[in-house]
Amino acid sequence: MFEPDVYIKRREQLIKSMSGGLVLLVGNSESPMNYLDNTYPFRQDSTFLYYTGISRPDLFLIIDIESHHTALVGHELTIDDIIWSGSQPDLVNLGELCGADQVLSSSELTTELEKARSQKRTIHYLSPYRAETKNRLEKLLGLSVEQHSKDNSFELASAVITQRSVKEPREVNEIEMALGITQLMILAGMKSVQPGKYEREIAGLVEGIAISGGGRLAYPCILTKHGEVLHNHQYHRRLDQGDLVVQDSGASSIHGYASDITRTYPVNGIFSSCQATIYLAVLRSLEGALSTIRPESSFKESHLAAARIITDHLQQIGIMQGDIDESVAVGAHALFFPHGLGHMMGLDVHDMENLGEDFVGYNDQVHRSQQFGLKSLRFGRAPSQGYVLTVEPGCYFITPLIDQWKNEKRHESFIRYDMLSRWENFGGIRIEENILVTSDGCKILGPPIPKNIPDVENACRG
Ligand code: GLY
Ligand code: MN
Ligand code: MN
Repeated sequence: MFEPDVYIKRREQLIKSMSGGLVLLVGNSESPMNYLDNTYPFRQDSTFLYYTGISRPDLFLIIDIESHHTALVGHELTIDDIIWSGSQPDLVNLGELCGADQVLSSSELTTELEKARSQKRTIHYLSPYRAETKNRLEKLLGLSVEQHSKDNSFELASAVITQRSVKEPREVNEIEMALGITQLMILAGMKSVQPGKYEREIAGLVEGIAISGGGRLAYPCILTKHGEVLHNHQYHRRLDQGDLVVQDSGASSIHGYASDITRTYPVNGIFSSCQATIYLAVLRSLEGALSTIRPESSFKESHLAAARIITDHLQQIGIMQGDIDESVAVGAHALFFPHGLGHMMGLDVHDMENLGEDFVGYNDQVHRSQQFGLKSLRFGRAPSQGYVLTVEPGCYFITPLIDQWKNEKRHESFIRYDMLSRWENFGGIRIEENILVTSDGCKILGPPIPKNIPDVENACRG
């Protein structure tokens, strides 16, 4: 945890941005995997973590916007808790650690909420994303799931998003620590890859490094020779000469901050000329996009800039044609680059998306497009100084998608379907960096991780 003052100040800032009422934050509980006592690793709700720093199940926080009073709610440790989970700070200690004014039991919370409701005070809560939280809200507020899914507080979500979007220096520092671990994860992948190895051998090594770093993976690692399957979480394939590995992996820091890095590398340590051509298209697209990112410039424009560069390179190898701006405007490039340029990152790898993806990524100035490809851009609005984002262009040859578009003759004035057969089993390439938006541009966070072709090839040769 950070010092209590950090959490007190964060709550004070939240209080200032709200009009009144009570804020109720519901912490996460354990989540059973296959029976009650065999649980997924515990992950605290990120907003609860942001305002308290406490990573323990079954807690609530209430913040009174009028009196500025904060109470941490939970149960006292029982001897059973201590026997099975060891000695740990009790509720009063936890209250002190997060700078709360008071601690309350669950039954006292019920009384407080009943009192607030009888006084017709607004109780603000965030939209729940876990069934356990939905049940708790149903019990505490006497609202059906349908009602509380509708009545969650727009005002609170908006205040939280505004506050959590701008990272404090200590948060950037945490992200950089997570990136330090991720550098080791990627280098380990590059150093250990060789023909005959199985994806699972490298995936296991990578996950072990995340645990050795003191946290865990920030999300399930992608480590595959089928990088064209965008969220491929299988690791059972053997790596052979000529294959490319897409490794998309991130660690979480001890305080729960994420990193999210992708590199693509050749199994035999040397890119073929076809692989190098597509790799350079993606690398130049990443560099081009980075040069456009600055406060007040929409991320959607950066996405489109990345798409134009990829289109230009695909034209040079003869698989696309026509006017580049028109081609990007109709979305022809999305056959090869069907996802978004990036997303916000912080305590969550896709930061705050539980509060509403559009709510985080779009506003009155920039609306989400419905066009194939662009619709998958998770963050489109202009960032401000202090935002942390990922930038992750990619180029993929997805056979079922190519077949579908070819049959439909979709965008055939821009796509040379007759030239695509030799690329059929290419797979995919993605390169991903994490950036901090500065006053006049952006900077790549974390230690350098091989990205230029000679550096990647050197790392792969150990
Ligand atoms: N690691 C998932 C993503 O890049 O969004
Ligand atoms: Mn990623
Ligand atoms: Mn990402």
